[in-house]
Amino acid sequence: MTLNELYKKAVLALESIENGETDARIIIKKVLSVNETEFLLSKHLELPDEKIKTIDRMIDKRLSGIPVQYIIGEWDFYGTTFKVNENVLIPRPETEFLCEYVIDCLKGKNSPIIADLCAGSGCIGITIKNNVSDSTVILVEKSPEAAEICRQNIADIIGEASVTLINGDIYECEKFTGLPLFDIIISNPPYIKSSEIPTLQTEVLKEPEMALDGGVDGLDFYRLLTEKWTEFLKEDGMFAFECGEEQADDIRALLEKKDFDVIYLKDYNNIDRFVIGKRRKK
Ligand SMILES: C[S@@+](CC[C@H](N)C(=O)[O-])C[C@H]1O[C@@H](n2cnc3c(N)ncnc32)[C@H](O)[C@@H]1O
Repeated sequence: MTLNELYKKAVLALESIENGETDARIIIKKVLSVNETEFLLSKHLELPDEKIKTIDRMIDKRLSGIPVQYIIGEWDFYGTTFKVNENVLIPRPETEFLCEYVIDCLKGKNSPIIADLCAGSGCIGITIKNNVSDSTVILVEKSPEAAEICRQNIADIIGEASVTLINGDIYECEKFTGLPLFDIIISNPPYIKSSEIPTLQTEVLKEPEMALDGGVDGLDFYRLLTEKWTEFLKEDGMFAFECGEEQADDIRALLEKKDFDVIYLKDYNNIDRFVIGKRRKK
């Protein structure tokens, strides 16, 4: 079977899946280790049986609702490839915007100290360290399985010794008292209302529940962060949160209660997706 024949078969098989054609291409390129140009130039290439079988198996997985990112085991974020599996949230393109904003804020700051709380794959903290070389970055992740993927990403992308990863629960604040004060605490915490979890798209349901569930109103983590983690910020420190649609106003209220000035930033769909809280000078 040629690559072109296999591609057509895969696209047909994934016809019912949103972006099925793109996913077929992603899977084939990954298995054959080819880039887009090589893919386009290799349409008449005869494929070995074993590659065809691997691709068929992956297409079946995609048909069962498993996201393509978990199937190929990696995903690009801010120009870097991160390992992912079913233990971590798949890095989202909008989160790149949050990183961009924070990297911009850090320009001109000397040796800033940053926390990425609820780190998952580590995409936020690793991206910050990768772009602000004199920063000290501490990542905290509760799930041991997610922390292991985060550890591998740290080792592969920036080197094991360049940041600190803590496999811990951010609710257990007393365990973090030895940490330095932070210039910026960034967090993309779980923020979906518990009652909405069963209604999510099949693909999202394959992501870990611990990465999604934000409690009854979805705001549990923002309450915790503003109430307990403010004391981990420097006097002029800042929170940079990603949040769900229609949560920004509630998070603003939580931050204002703690004397923060608040701004919102929009994502690519014009939704207030990021809430930035700057500590008011006393
Ligand atoms: C929405 S995901 C975000 C992952 C990553 N920061 C990103 O933007 O792709 C939230 C992460 O928080 C972790 N988490 C949930 N509860 C936690 C807790 N109490 N302490 C630390 N991490 C927690 C989950 O395991 C998950 O990896």
